Amino acid sequence: MHRSSSSDKPRLSGRATPQGTLRYAARFHGASAPGYFREIPGGLVMSSVGIGTYLGDPDETTDHGYTESVTAAVEGGINVVDTAINYRFQRSERSIGAALKHLAVKGYARDEIVLCTKAGFLTPDGEMPEDVEEYFAREYLEPGILNPEEIAAGCHCMAPRFLDDQLSRSLANLGVQAVDVFYLHNPETQLGDVPADEFVRRVRAAFEFFESAVASGKIGAYGLATWNAFRENVQSPGYMSLGEIEALAREVAGADHHFRFLQLPMNLAMPEGLLRPNQTVHGKTLATVQAARALGITLVVSASLLQGQLTRNLPTYIATALGCQTDAERALQFARSVPAVTTALTGMSRVEHVRANLRMLQIEPAPRDEFLKLFEQNPVSRSSS
Ligand SMILES: NC(=O)c1ccc[n+]([C@@H]2O[C@H](COP(=O)([O-])OP(=O)(O)OC[C@H]3O[C@@H](n4cnc5c(N)ncnc54)[C@H](OP(=O)(O)O)[C@@H]3O)[C@@H](O)[C@H]2O)c1
Repeated sequence: MHRSSSSDKPRLSGRATPQGTLRYAARFHGASAPGYFREIPGGLVMSSVGIGTYLGDPDETTDHGYTESVTAAVEGGINVVDTAINYRFQRSERSIGAALKHLAVKGYARDEIVLCTKAGFLTPDGEMPEDVEEYFAREYLEPGILNPEEIAAGCHCMAPRFLDDQLSRSLANLGVQAVDVFYLHNPETQLGDVPADEFVRRVRAAFEFFESAVASGKIGAYGLATWNAFRENVQSPGYMSLGEIEALAREVAGADHHFRFLQLPMNLAMPEGLLRPNQTVHGKTLATVQAARALGITLVVSASLLQGQLTRNLPTYIATALGCQTDAERALQFARSVPAVTTALTGMSRVEHVRANLRMLQIEPAPRDEFLKLFEQNPVSRSSS
C-alpha cells in the first residue's frame, strides 16, 4: 500500500487573493488577449482556461506528466488548477503538490494560484488495495470517520466528519495550508439512494462544515462540482435546483455565505447548462448559466474537450463560427465563451497539450454575435435535446 508521510512536511501558506491573482495576470500583460483573465465577485482574477487532473492511470509516468503539465501551465498563463482527492487515487493531488513546490522556487507565489479540490467519493490511497473492504474498514470505518449508514451508492459520503477528514488529506497531499475552492463532488450520486428530505439534510450539514472550514481558514469558498445535476430536466431523479441549494447556504450562513462556485460539464456535445431552461431564480425560468449569474455564483466548466473527443473531426460550421486553428482550440473557445462561464477546464497530463492550449492566451473569447452564429441553424441545440 502506498502511504504518504506528506502530512509531516512543511506546507505552503496562504491562499489566492485578489492582489496575488491580479499580479499573476500582470505577468502576461501584453501577451494575453482581452478577456483571457476574468475577475470574479470578491476580486480573484482567474484564467479562462484551467488545468484539470482527472484522467490517466495511477502510475509514476502520469504523476510526472501532471507535475510537469501543472508547472508549465502556471508558467504559461493558467492559474486555475482543478483536482479531487479521488483522482488517480490521490496521486493527482500529490502531483500538483510537487508542481506547487517547483513553482514556489521559480517565484510563483501561492496567492497567485486558484487551487480547487473536491471531496465526496471514497478513494484508496495511491493504488487499489488488494482487499478493498479491509482497507476501508481499517482506514475509515474502525476510526469512526465513516458511518456505513452515511455511504450512498456504495461509494459516496458527504457527512461532515468524512469531509473534514478528506480536506485534511487533500491539504497534506497538495502541501498547502488551504485551498481556494472546496467542492462537494457529484452530490447527485446520492439522489437515487436517499429520500429527498434526507438529501437536503445532508447537503445542509455539508455546508455547515464548509462554512466552519472557511472560518478556520482552510478553504476560501465552496461549491458543487457536478456531472448530471444541472443538465437534467426538472423531472429527472438526478436533477438539482441551484436556487434551492443557494437558499440552503443562506439558511446556514446568511447572505454572506461562501457557496460561490459551481462546476458542471460544458462542451459542444453537452451544452445543456446553456440551453436547457431547467432553473427558477427569483420567479424566472433560466438556464443554469443564467441562474448562476443571477445568484452571484462563479461558473467553472469541466470536460471542455469531451475527454479528448472534440479535438478532431468537428463539423465545418463550428470552424466557420468560431475561427481558431485547431478543433481543440475551437472546443475550448466554445466552453470559455459561454456567457457567464469564468473558466473552462481541460485535463492535460502532457506538456505538449499545455503548450497547444496556451494558444488560447492570445485569442479573445468569442464575442456574443460570433458565438451566437453557432446557433443560427441550431445544430448545437438540436444535439442537446
Ligand atoms: N464531476 C466533476 O467534478 C468533473 C467531471 C469531469 C471533469 N472534471 C474536471 O474537469 C477537468 C477537464 O475534464 P476532463 O479531463 O475529464 O476532460 P477534457 O478536458 O474534456 O479532456 C481531457 C483529455 O483531452 C486531452 N487533451 C487536452 N488538450 C488536448 C489537445 N490540445 N489536443 C489533443 N488532446 C488534448 C488530454 O490529454 P492528456 O492528458 O494526454 O494531456 C485528456 O486526455 C478534469 O480534469 C477535472 O479536473 C470534473
